[in-house]
Amino acid sequence: ISNNHVRLVEVGPRDGLQNEKKAITLATKIELIERLAKTGLSSIEAGSFVSPKWVPQMNNSSEILEHILKQKIPSPVPITYSFLAPNAKGLENATALLQQNPGAYLTEAESLARTDTCGRPGIELAVFAAATETFSKRNLNCDIATSLEKFRDVIQGSKEMGVRVRAYISVVLGCPFEGYDVDPHKVAEIATTLLEMGADEISLGDTTGMGTAPRTKELLRCMSAAGIRNEDIAMHFHDTYGQAIVNTAISLEHGIRTFDSAVGGLGGCPYSPGATGNVATENMVYFLESLGMETGVDLDGVSDIGAWITGEIGKPNDSAVGKAVLGV
Ligand code: HMG
Ligand code: MG
Repeated sequence: ISNNHVRLVEVGPRDGLQNEKKAITLATKIELIERLAKTGLSSIEAGSFVSPKWVPQMNNSSEILEHILKQKIPSPVPITYSFLAPNAKGLENATALLQQNPGAYLTEAESLARTDTCGRPGIELAVFAAATETFSKRNLNCDIATSLEKFRDVIQGSKEMGVRVRAYISVVLGCPFEGYDVDPHKVAEIATTLLEMGADEISLGDTTGMGTAPRTKELLRCMSAAGIRNEDIAMHFHDTYGQAIVNTAISLEHGIRTFDSAVGGLGGCPYSPGATGNVATENMVYFLESLGMETGVDLDGVSDIGAWITGEIGKPNDSAVGKAVLGV
């Protein structure tokens, strides 16, 4: 993989849909994932093993994981499908399905050895910490230290199943409850702990979209100063303040090559009032390719999907690029 290659993690089916009030059918979710799989994306976040009481929209994630394990979803490149699992119950629900379908997914070791020839998916589980105590309490019902202890078990249990682990840290550039000044050293400290526990990647979430260019730069400087490698970091920008592309440019300059985005700019966090969607995948592809970087993602394909899924759930298409590409 060259230094010009950027990996886009499509979070539309999870982050994009989790906050929708009206139930979206399983068939629509699966169609979204299957269409995305055809566009050249190599990472798709497909669901969430969380409490259905708090996030009812994600309550058919078991069926989605089962579908992924049982049907070989056609894709031009191997895909790793990711699911949130913040505690023992989430881990248990996810791993029960993995155990019922032995050999249906590519373990990390097989993936690294490139031994697979039959198109099995990779599976990843994701934990999510917060950079402030108030957000941690609201989103996870416990303080940061307690959440990290729960994640230790989730990470260990995932590793025993040969499953890769992503660890989010939310509100890294602003908190809806504690405000703008989130301590970047605290973020680096949490990231270090999660990496030491065995997480494969840290995704730094600008949950509120309040992040600015100087603060993005300062955060990444602190991450490097703490000895965290750029290849272990992904950036997760919500575009509420329209700063996501600028902050992406700053992150690229720092050497980050993994970014999260959602087709059609879908999304919002139920625990971050007023926050809008993730930066649109279409906007990211257009921007990155204009810099001569390669994403491997078909811009026309994701633009079509963005228009379709936003229509399907009755929302405006939030991707300026997607609309321009389609001439609407
Ligand atoms: P808890 O400590 O068990 O407490 O779970 P609770 O009172 O919230 O539990 C409520 C009920 O859910 C209980 O059942 C639990 O057993 C059950 P009851 O006793 O009422 O019958 N439960 C579960 N059910 C299924 N799967 C589970 C699970 N866990 C508990 N995994 C917890 C605390 C935080 C886990 C729970 O409240 C929860 O799942 N909350 C939802 C959190 C969430 O999904 N947040 C949004 C995703 S994070 C995000 O969007 C940010 C991100 O995009 C990055 C960024 O932008 O910053 C990743
Ligand atoms: Mg998010």
